[in-house]
Amino acid sequence: MIDIVLSGSPLQEIVAEGYVLFCWESDLISAEQRDLCARAGFDSAPYLERVAFSCGTGVTAVFNGTIAKKPVYIFFIGLGSKKTSTVERREQIRRAVGQAIRQAEKLKITSLVFELPHLDTTGMDGFILGREIATTVEMASYQFNQFITDQKRHVAQDYYIVLKAPEDIHEELRVGVETGIRIGHAVNQARHWCDLPALYLTPTALAERAQGIADAHDCLSCRVFDKKEIEAMGMGGLIAVSQGSIQEPRFVVLEYTPEKNDVPTVGLVGKGVTFDSGGLSIKPAARMDEMKDDMAGAAAVITTMLALAYLKPHIRVVACAPITENLPSGTAIKPGDIIYHYNGKTSEIKNTDAEGRLILADALAYLCKNYKLDALVNIATLTGSCAAALGPFFAGIMSKHEQFQTRLIDAGRWSGDRLWPLPFIDDYRAAIKSEYADVCNIGSDRYRAGAITAGFFLSNFVDENIPWAHLDIAGTSFEVPDRSYYRGGSTGFGVRLFVELLTNWK
Ligand code: BES
Ligand code: ZN
Ligand code: ZN
Repeated sequence: MIDIVLSGSPLQEIVAEGYVLFCWESDLISAEQRDLCARAGFDSAPYLERVAFSCGTGVTAVFNGTIAKKPVYIFFIGLGSKKTSTVERREQIRRAVGQAIRQAEKLKITSLVFELPHLDTTGMDGFILGREIATTVEMASYQFNQFITDQKRHVAQDYYIVLKAPEDIHEELRVGVETGIRIGHAVNQARHWCDLPALYLTPTALAERAQGIADAHDCLSCRVFDKKEIEAMGMGGLIAVSQGSIQEPRFVVLEYTPEKNDVPTVGLVGKGVTFDSGGLSIKPAARMDEMKDDMAGAAAVITTMLALAYLKPHIRVVACAPITENLPSGTAIKPGDIIYHYNGKTSEIKNTDAEGRLILADALAYLCKNYKLDALVNIATLTGSCAAALGPFFAGIMSKHEQFQTRLIDAGRWSGDRLWPLPFIDDYRAAIKSEYADVCNIGSDRYRAGAITAGFFLSNFVDENIPWAHLDIAGTSFEVPDRSYYRGGSTGFGVRLFVELLTNWK
């Protein structure tokens, strides 16, 4: 549990094991900070000079001393330059907050005071600052330890944090903190499902969890389609991918209904492959374990709904997730097979490892047919090609709807789940022509650009009139380096992005 409270008292009157002083590069140490250091038993100025502490990004200086006979730590955490853009400063602050938690872990302390930077240096209002801090503390303290029986290997997850800030912004901060905790929980829920081995997070288990979330909130409703129903609906892609496994597929539709009626409707679709071995076109053994994360898209859309249930935006949202395993067996689909999708189109499966697009096709067509959508976005760990192109810090976005794409990119910049556009013009479409079916599930070698050709495959299943964007999160969903508020394992990419998009819908 993270407990975040507010205080306007002078630093040295607040009792904690650790005092976190966030400072901008080239800022001088304040009189209050100096007093705190003096109270703890040292003169900060010469010490800081000696370590050449400049408050640059990523720089931390730690003192230990005693206050009222109790040991305390004081850490100065550099925020970097305050001359950067508002978007950049937002991320600088998140990373510094993440660092504060990492430092506390190292020192094994769990009660902290955060002395917040002056609001006008942050480019945020009190609400946003509180929200970002709380979300980031939640994210930084997440760990996946349920299978580690040696308690000594666990690090603290429970923190008591006092935000020290002027009293006139306490109310804004408090509402922001409450919001941020909800967002952080949703992100961490998504991470937990991704980190769970496929042994435990089967398609049925994930669908049950979606149902469980809906059952707990009146504004959410959930329908889970089982194998028979999926077959009867004609979702040939989802059936085909699932047929190599003894685990049955599920198709989840989760709806958020706002209080007001006359509002736009946005559709979300997330890829839910709970394990992707590649099927008969089997993947190499090295790092195949990571393919338990191949449901990161489904996790992101389901837990976004969890956040929305608390944040109650004035917009209708329908999230759906086709969920399955992709395994080789005597019953598995074979390269060369041709299947029928929900909208009646056929696809030739030349590579059973390009399974994500087959199940997304059915889900996209389902949403377009059964809902009147104002916008549609899908999110998927879809291609190694996208991960190779953009690496771990940006997910790929592909869309022909420039306005909608810009909106998503902006939401990505503000939320920290950043997106980068890949060209999405019809020149690439010919890559997925099939001799025997309407489309082929892999692009021709001559066109390369595997991320983009996958996007074009999907475009065959979306109503052209609906603003639609495809997000490829293969590179950003797990094992992202050098980010203080992540650990190894999954990132929950997409939840902060969708919350930002949907709670500020224009
Ligand atoms: N789930 C993978 C994509 C992936 C790769 C996600 C690495 C995360 C990290 C997807 O189903 C896949 O295997 N795609 C193939 C497509 C190819 C066969 C056209 C790929 O990217 O190699
Ligand atoms: Zn695959
Ligand atoms: Zn996959």
